[in-house]
Order: sequence, then C-alpha cells, then structure tokens
Amino acid sequence: MLEVQSIVKTFNSGTPNEVHSLRGVSLTLEPGSWVIIIGTNGSGKSTFLNAVAGMFFVDEGSIRLAGRDVTRWPEYARAELIGRVFQNPFSGTSPSLTIRENLSLAARRGRSRGLGWGMKSTLVSKMRDEVSRLNMGLEDRLENAIGSLSGGQRQALTLLMATWLRPELLLLDEHTAALDPKSADLLIALTEKVVAHDKLTTLMVTHSMHQAASLGDRLIMMHRGQIIHDFQGAEKRRLRPDDLLARFEEVRRAEQLDESAAQMLAEKYI
Ligand SMILES: Nc1ncnc2c1ncn2[C@@H]1O[C@H](COP(=O)(O)OP(=O)(O)OP(=O)(O)O)[C@@H](O)[C@H]1O
Ligand SMILES: [Mg+2]
Repeated sequence: MLEVQSIVKTFNSGTPNEVHSLRGVSLTLEPGSWVIIIGTNGSGKSTFLNAVAGMFFVDEGSIRLAGRDVTRWPEYARAELIGRVFQNPFSGTSPSLTIRENLSLAARRGRSRGLGWGMKSTLVSKMRDEVSRLNMGLEDRLENAIGSLSGGQRQALTLLMATWLRPELLLLDEHTAALDPKSADLLIALTEKVVAHDKLTTLMVTHSMHQAASLGDRLIMMHRGQIIHDFQGAEKRRLRPDDLLARFEEVRRAEQLDESAAQMLAEKYI
C-alpha cells in the first residue's frame, strides 16, 4: 500500500527558475488499486511518480510504502519495491544485453548474489513461457540484443521486467505514448492482463482520455502541482472521455480568467 502525505517539491528554489512542481500532494492507495493520473503538461504528474520512486527527496511530507517509511530511502533501495515503465522505450532496458540477460537482471532485482545452476535452467524456461505469452514471437529470440527490437516490443519486455518479481507498486509514466496506435493497444491489453492477474497496486499517467476513462478503478487529475479531482467507484466507472475533456476545458478557462485578472491588475497599477 502507498501512503503519500502532503508532499512538496520545489526545483531551483530561490532562483529566478524556481518551479513549485508539487504543492502538497496527498494520496493513499488501497492494495490492488489501479489509479490513472491525468493533467495538463507540466502539472506535476511525472514529478509525483519520480518523488515516489525516489529520484529525488521531497522538501516536505512523507511517503510510506508497504508499511515502511521510505521518504529518505535512496532510489535504488525503493527499486526493490517498485517496478517502473517510462515513456521512452530506450530507458527501461540495456540495449546491448540480450533479452535473456535483461530478464535475468529483472529476476535478480534486490538480490546481490547470482542464481544457482538449477535455478538458471528453471528461469530460462520460465522466460520462454512468459515471453511467448506476449505473442510477439520473441521466445525464439532470447539471445538477441534488446537494441534490435521495435519500440513496442521493448516496452512489452520492460513491462515484463518491471513486474517479474511482483512489485509492491507499479509506476507507468505515459508508457504507450511513443508507440504507434496498434502497438499502444497491444501494450495496454498486456498491461491490463498483468495488473489484473497480479492484482498490482498501480499508478499510471496518460494523456489518452480513452485510456483514462476505460482503465483503472480510480482517476485523479493534477493541476499546478496539486490534485484537483479524484474520481472513485461508480463515479469513476461512469466517466467518459468527453467528461474528462470537459474538465480540461474548465481548467483552461480558469487559467484564462486568471491571466486576464492578472493583466487587469497589472494595467491598473502600471
Ligand atoms: N528536475 C527538474 N528540475 C527543474 N524543474 C523540473 C524538474 N522536473 C520537473 N520540473 C518542472 O516541474 C513541473 C512539472 O513537471 P512534470 O514533468 O512533473 O509535468 P508533467 O505533468 O509530467 O507534464 P507532461 O504531461 O508534459 O509530462 C514543470 O514545470 C517542470 O519543468
Ligand atoms: Mg510527464
């Protein structure tokens, strides 16, 4: 279970480039819950996921995961509990290593010592099974370098690696955004299968309103470093892509009003 309490993150504090990326975000996830995060560009979605993963420490607030306070844990220590898939197909895998080698690394996550010989042959047959279930014909290419695969194939393998040892939390940051529509659909189907099968607690960022409406059991919308909407249960199930677009329109109008108010004030006092 994830419990985030009032986290704050400001980049470049005290400089002209100061950015208030997270302005008091709290979120508690029930075990097995699948939360979709939407929001305009720069609203803090990736920063939120990165804060949870430990890419940096938050300035204020706390993060608990699986009953432990991980707020001050370094990223590598949290990686034992967290699986991640990013937008960029090149970031989740080592391109010069083979599929088998990449999957071996995933299977060893958090374990300092290597696997015994008996374990190794069991592992390779498990790899072949799991990879064949991707339906991409990759089970006969375990010895090929990952760098030789398409973006869609790499993302599917990255998802497999991220979930190989059932993580306490799965973080997906626009993991289909760089793929063509067909590959994106395939990866979404795979994500649904993996998340549902392992009942993984999942946070998924997307700009696809279709994905946001159809996937997950809860949806939050971020804006300017805060959560501005939180839909759960029946309310979430009823959401349609058009409802979400309407929420974006509300945000856009409020921003315009803010801007014109600021302009009026500026004109008045110049
Ligand atoms: N390491 C960093 N240093 C400085 N500023 C940062 C850093 N990371 C994020 N930011 C800033 O924080 C704000 C939120 O960025 P973030 O990447 O979280 O947005 P996002 O909601 O993921 O947007 P997008 O939909 O474009 O991916 C932005 O203004 C961004 O420039
Ligand atoms: Mg982002």
